[in-house]
Order: sequence, then C-alpha cells, then structure tokens
Amino acid sequence: MQMSHRISGFQCSPIRRLSPLARAAEKKGIRVHYLNIGQPDIKTPQVALDEVRNYNKPNIPYGPSEGLSELREGMSDYYKKHGVDDITPDDILITTGGSEAIQFAFMTLCDPYDEVIIPEPYYTNVTSFARMAMVNLVPITSRIEDCFSLPPIEEFEKKITRKTGAILLCSPNNPTGYIYNKEEMLQLLELCKKNDIFLLVDEVYREFCYDGEFTSILSFDEYSDRVVCIDSFSKRYSMCGARIGALVSKNQEFLQSVLKLSQARLCPPDIEQMVAIAALKTDVSYLQDVKEEYKKRRDFLTSGLDKIPGVISNIPKGAFYLVAEFPIDNAEDFAIFLLKDFNYEGETVMISPAEDFYVTNGIGRKQARIAYVLNTEDLGRALICLEKGLEEYKKLHN
Ligand SMILES: Cc1ncc(COP(=O)(O)O)c(C=O)c1O
Repeated sequence: MQMSHRISGFQCSPIRRLSPLARAAEKKGIRVHYLNIGQPDIKTPQVALDEVRNYNKPNIPYGPSEGLSELREGMSDYYKKHGVDDITPDDILITTGGSEAIQFAFMTLCDPYDEVIIPEPYYTNVTSFARMAMVNLVPITSRIEDCFSLPPIEEFEKKITRKTGAILLCSPNNPTGYIYNKEEMLQLLELCKKNDIFLLVDEVYREFCYDGEFTSILSFDEYSDRVVCIDSFSKRYSMCGARIGALVSKNQEFLQSVLKLSQARLCPPDIEQMVAIAALKTDVSYLQDVKEEYKKRRDFLTSGLDKIPGVISNIPKGAFYLVAEFPIDNAEDFAIFLLKDFNYEGETVMISPAEDFYVTNGIGRKQARIAYVLNTEDLGRALICLEKGLEEYKKLHN
C-alpha cells in the first residue's frame, strides 16, 4: 500500500522533528531544556482554568460554524480596548487555532498554484499550510544584519505576478521578533492596493511588544477591505492546547467565503471557546506581568548569547523568539549533536534549526530559532549547555 505523492512533499516540522532524540536523551536521564517550541511555561489565567472546571452544559454541543457569538463579542471588545474601534462581532470568525485561520485564508484567497509573497525567515508551519492549499510561497529574504526589518518594497513589487493572491506578514514576528512599523505597513498596503491583492497579517503575538510601538493592521481604515488579521488565544493566555484562533476582516465577502470551509468542519471546539470567553475577562495586570516576564527573559537570553564567542543574534522587539547564527556550518547537525551526543552535568538543550524557516535553499543553515519560553533560571542553564555544547561541537568539527 502506498501513501499519496502529495504527502511525501510535506516536511516534518523543524520545531518538532528532533523530539524523538530529546525523548531518548530524557530516557537516559538527561534533563532537556526545550527552547525549540513556543510553548510558554506561564500559568493560564485562573478565570480560564476555572471555566474548564465549571463547564456545566448538559452535553458538549456543536456550535455555530463562525464561533460562539459571546466569544466574537468579547473579541470585538478586546480590539476596542486596544484602540481598534470598528471591529464588530460580524467581522470575526472563530477558528480552531491561528493555524486553521492561515489555512482557511490561503484556501479562500488563492487557487492552486497561486502565489503568496512572504518575508523569510517565517513561521515554518506556513510551508505546510501553503502545500495543503497548493499555494506557492514566494520568499523575500530579510537579513540578520538588518535586524530582519522589511526588505525594500521594490523587492516585493518585483515578485508580484498575475498569480499573486496575497502578501503574508507576521508582526511581532516569529521567528525574528521584528515588529513592522507603520511606514512599512503603509508601503505594503499601497502595494496591495495597486495590485488588487490582500495583505494577511498574523498578529498572534500582538500583546508581546517590548521595544517600539505595535501597529495593528486592523487600524488602517482606508485599506480595510483588503486586510485580513490572524489572531489566536494560544500564546496570549498561555493556552496553546485550547486551539482557539480567529480571522478578522472588514471584508464580508471574504468571511462569507471562509464560512463554507468553517461549515464543512462544523464548528470550533465548544469547551475551549467557553474558556476563551472567560480568558477575555482576565485582569489587565495578567498580560502586563507576562509581558514584563518575557522582556526579562529576552534581555537575559540576548546578553547571555552575546557572551558566547562567534554567536550573532539581534535583540528581538517582540514575540518570544530570536534567530541566532552560530559559528558552524550546519545548525541542524549541531542541534542533533546537542541531543544525541552531549550533555553538561546531566543537562542539554533543544533548539530549532532555522533552515526550514526559509524557502530559499541554503540560507539559514547556520541559524537556529531560540524560544525564550522558560524562566530565567532554566534559561541560564540552557545557555550554559549551549555554550559548552558549541565548544565541544567545534572541537569535533575542526
Ligand atoms: C506566527 C504564528 N502563527 C500561528 C501560530 C499557530 O498558533 P495556534 O496555536 O493558534 O494554531 C503560531 C504558533 O506557534 C505562530 O507562531
């Protein structure tokens, strides 16, 4: 029996594919510090956890395909509190995580073999979402030397063809931590207007901005009919396993088209939507504290990396990742070495090789994405493992 040709073209996620090696290390009694995945160790808000315990519907029902109205109303209020006044519940469609939101957007805006332009490096699972929709990703390389800022707009313009359906941006960015500024957004919006295409912006890290100002794509009224925002509860409230996200747009034709896909998968999960409704009632101090904590971790990580000879990294402005470049030829090989052949005082570290965060072949081979999702004590131990591991790896490869 044979699997489809289609599935053989999919990648195993570089964020997760080394997990069997990590589990094998743990079986040997080695403690692994997981800096590979954006799985925060921060506590979910108590109001949300209480809702899990207090869920008391007589059965767990299907709900509306577009999501529970109370949740959509809650999100509309959330955007109002964040300075975006005119997003109504009708402009919001709840999805099963931001992941489904990206897939639905691709399926709705692009035909097979259409193109989506994306600055690379980008959130690597987008590669698989594009494949599912048979969409080709057209990369524009952003560079570590430029702190991963938006490449010149002319580069985007050159890549626009009859097949371009949209440009996809992520701000604050995973994996680079860059926050696109108002000027950069405006340049892209003008380009999209000129070429009659959509601008998709993934804002799942919108709460986590440490330097500079965050500008939401939802705040550009003049362009609102060609804007789609992707949102998620996963990171904001440390509830990644709840699988609640959203598509937000003033373009009703887009949302009504997405609804066909939503109806086919019936509805987003009910218990988790109730939990999300509760999460929205979280006291503002929760997110303020979480943001402070991530900022502390960022500063700790970047100053630690600065002290490791030969490692280049920039200071991420937001989200909770950075891309670091190592003085070696192949970061994937290094990541495997750390899990398979190394430990320092019974501990090691797992990182995500960054090559698959790029479409362009060969770029990013020396780079890895590091998530600062652990407390500073564990981060400190992880940094020691990284430094000692690098020393040993270099000895073996010189
Ligand atoms: C940029 C970005 N978009 C979307 C997602 C998917 O999030 P969700 O858990 O909501 O599916 C992630 C998850 O890491 C992400 O980093």
